[in-house]
Amino acid sequence: MGRIVTIIGTRPEIIKMAPVVKALDGLSHDHVLVHSGQHYDLVMDRIFFRDMELREPDYQFALKNQPAPLQVATTMRHVAQVAGTADLVMVHGDTNTTVAGAMLANKLGKRVGHVEAGIRSFDKTMSEEVNRIVADQLASLLFAPTRIARENLRKENVQDGVHVVGNSVIDALKANSAIAERRSNILDRLGLSRGGYLLLTFHRAENVDDTKRLAQALKAFETAAKVAGLPVVFPIHPRTAKNLRAFGLEKRAHAMKALRRIPPTGYLDMIRLEKNAALILTDSGGLQEEGCYFRVPCVTLRENTERPETLSIRANVLAGTDPTRVAAAVRRQLGVRRTWRNPYGNGRTSRRIAAIVDKILG
Ligand code: UD1
Ligand code: UDP
Repeated sequence: MGRIVTIIGTRPEIIKMAPVVKALDGLSHDHVLVHSGQHYDLVMDRIFFRDMELREPDYQFALKNQPAPLQVATTMRHVAQVAGTADLVMVHGDTNTTVAGAMLANKLGKRVGHVEAGIRSFDKTMSEEVNRIVADQLASLLFAPTRIARENLRKENVQDGVHVVGNSVIDALKANSAIAERRSNILDRLGLSRGGYLLLTFHRAENVDDTKRLAQALKAFETAAKVAGLPVVFPIHPRTAKNLRAFGLEKRAHAMKALRRIPPTGYLDMIRLEKNAALILTDSGGLQEEGCYFRVPCVTLRENTERPETLSIRANVLAGTDPTRVAAAVRRQLGVRRTWRNPYGNGRTSRRIAAIVDKILG
């Protein structure tokens, strides 16, 4: 029997690791769940444990208000003792929690398993891209979502221990879609109808930490609403809310009648919002995948994506934040045929990961 230590810390890690945690809990090994505390507001953190019926972490740490570099250092310090007891440390994705877990395990001489390995934006100015590359270099078990991700790893000389298993986001969606239909009343609460709105999320550092780019993006949101003739529902990430205030842009956002700002939502509400939107506008990785699964077209408000599978099937298009480009992308995506096949697997990713982990731990 072995000991697995799984480290999570942010909204997307909680959502995409929930099915993996449940599958690992089902093995005969010890499984310890650790939360770094990188995300901490109720609507960024605990709401997902409730919505996804995920057990409480065995170890909960606090990182509130730590600047990015110290998030990594502090998490390494916090988690060192528990990771020291592990036979395998599991991390997910590309956050500061991910890279802290992978580096700590490596320094302790422990094996690292990386879920969502091998995806690349090829833009090293993004902190997430560096985190992914580092985690993949340190991992001995790499759970790649697609063959493109495996090929990216091969080009970086990472070939041993790579398994193409799909993306556990599909497991999360399959497990929660019917529940969301029954339990979420967000459309009624907001007075929205099926296909009667655009859904927007926007939080990437490169988009919201720069005054000019955030101001330009606001204009693009307004333009998108005009082109579609629909309101834009905007659950706001705390980073974006903070920067709108700091850059003096709140009034301008408030004056945009078509922009319906709401607090971040739980997972069941988000699934309903995604499924019934005419179109998704986003810079989120997860929303690009989820829109693709629901066959809701997406316009990505970035210059690149680590989800190229969504572009080639026309489920998604890159538009940056220039209003003219965004308008053209919205027109194109509103007219796209929604017949593509989801490239991220069949919802059995977590079971496959657990089976591989079981075999490795023996
Ligand atoms: C992080 C990840 C990003 C991921 C995103 C998911 C890194 C480098 N970035 O970005 O890849 O897409 O999570 O949402 O790890 N804040 C709150 N309450 C919270 C969490 C954050 O108010 O519960 C505010 C704080 O002011 C904080 C800021 O948001 O300083 C940024 O949070 P942080 O976790 O550093 O990065 P994210 O932008 O959330
Ligand atoms: N999400 C949510 N409520 C929100 C915004 C996002 O439940 O208000 C979910 C979304 O469905 C997806 C995940 O959070 O599963 C994506 O997280 P985020 O966009 O923060 O991070 P990224 O995927 O860009 O790393």
